[in-house]
Amino acid sequence: MKGDGMFEVRHHVHASKREHYADLATQARGLLAGERDLIANAANFSALIYHSLPELNWAGFYLFDGHELVVGPFQGKPACIRIALGRGVCGTAAQTRQTQLVRDVHAFDGHIACDAASQSEIVVPLVLADGSLLGVWDVDSPLIGRFDDDDRIGMQALCAVFLEAVGD
Ligand code: SME
Repeated sequence: MKGDGMFEVRHHVHASKREHYADLATQARGLLAGERDLIANAANFSALIYHSLPELNWAGFYLFDGHELVVGPFQGKPACIRIALGRGVCGTAAQTRQTQLVRDVHAFDGHIACDAASQSEIVVPLVLADGSLLGVWDVDSPLIGRFDDDDRIGMQALCAVFLEAVGD
C-alpha cells in the first residue's frame, strides 16, 4: 500500500473458507504492493490476518537470525522472544521446513506456551527463493481444532504472497 491512504480490512461473507482465503490473498497482495521493507510488510500482514480471520488469539512472525528464531511483528499478547530451531511448534516448522498443523497444542511434545489461551496452532516455514530460511509464520487459536487442511493451504498461499512481496 503506497502513501498514507487508509486500508480497509474487507469483511465479506464468504461461501467457503477457500473463498475467504482467496479474497485474503488478494487483499494481502494489495496491502504489500510496492513495498519491500520486511518489517513494514510483516507488521501489516499480521494485522490484516489477525483482524480478518475468526477465533485467533495470536498471529505473527518469528524471524531467523542465522542462529535461532526471534519474535518479529505480530498481533496478540506479548510472546516468547527467542526459540531454538527444533524447539516447540515454531522451531519444528523451521527445522523441518514443513507446515505444522497442531489440533491440540497440549498434545504436541515440546509445545511452548506463550499465551495460555492458545489451544491449536498452525506454523508455516518461510523459505526464500535461494533456499535460505527467513523465519516462520505462526497463528494461534483459543479453540481446539480451529485449523484444518483448508487453513493450511490458505496460510501457505498467503505466505507465498508475503515472500513474493519481500523479495522472492
Ligand atoms: N507456541 C509456539 C510458541 C510461539 S507462540 O505460540 C506465539 C511454539 O510452540 O513454537
